[in-house]
Amino acid sequence: MKFLELMKKKGLVAAHRGARSIAPENTLSALKKSIGKCDFIEIDVQLSRDRTVIVMHDNTLQRTTNIAEIDSFRDKKPYRVCDFMFEELCMLDYGSWFYKYKNHKEPLLTLKRALEFIKENSLFINIEIKDMSNCFEDRIVIETIAKEIEEAGVQERVLISSFRHEYLIIVKEKLPNVLSAALVEGRDPDNLLEYLKSLKVDAYHIDNALVDKTKVKMLRETGFFVGVYTVNNPQLAKELFEMGVNYIFSDCLNKKLKVI
Ligand code: G3P
Repeated sequence: MKFLELMKKKGLVAAHRGARSIAPENTLSALKKSIGKCDFIEIDVQLSRDRTVIVMHDNTLQRTTNIAEIDSFRDKKPYRVCDFMFEELCMLDYGSWFYKYKNHKEPLLTLKRALEFIKENSLFINIEIKDMSNCFEDRIVIETIAKEIEEAGVQERVLISSFRHEYLIIVKEKLPNVLSAALVEGRDPDNLLEYLKSLKVDAYHIDNALVDKTKVKMLRETGFFVGVYTVNNPQLAKELFEMGVNYIFSDCLNKKLKVI
């Protein structure tokens, strides 16, 4: 099955940053633990200073690594990911912030390893490309990520999304057969349908606060898929699916969310 066929099914649940309620977000453990509990996995990616694509949500390393405990990195505050070489990122621990008392370490996850894992297990993945416009040119970012997707041969298992819509235009140019989605928070762009058509995206991913029945209907009738983040309440999931929302992004991969 291709991602496009999956998206046509009803009531889909995406594991937001992997199974992040039971494992450290965006690690291989979080991906492993989401198997069988979701329809696809969502991860966030960004580039190291030497342009290795790594899996991480925040722009800085403070929250989800042990960087603050390492004296030799103190001069690199506020610990922006794009200021660190891949080799330096590999020295950090991505697990003990989550497990706290168990001193359970987790290694860095690269996009390359995540894509191998998706392929090995016949899964589907939404790659959210973080806004790196402060550190890299748009074209460099997309060309680097596109190369990895092509090399892994997983074009039909991937959906790319971003809040930085400039990236999405380049994504369709470089990877015309890969699905893409515009991510939005707070406010819809003006002339929404025309805007989405101009980006050549397949889907619109919105914050739950932006959901409105008329808008979902209009988007669906025009052929756009609609995804909503972040939904952890089964009743809300039910209402969204009844409204025509295609998929939700959830932290709690609870069977009760599969209401359709
Ligand atoms: O991609 C859906 C959702 O993950 C967007 O929000 O803040 O988790 O990147 P955020």
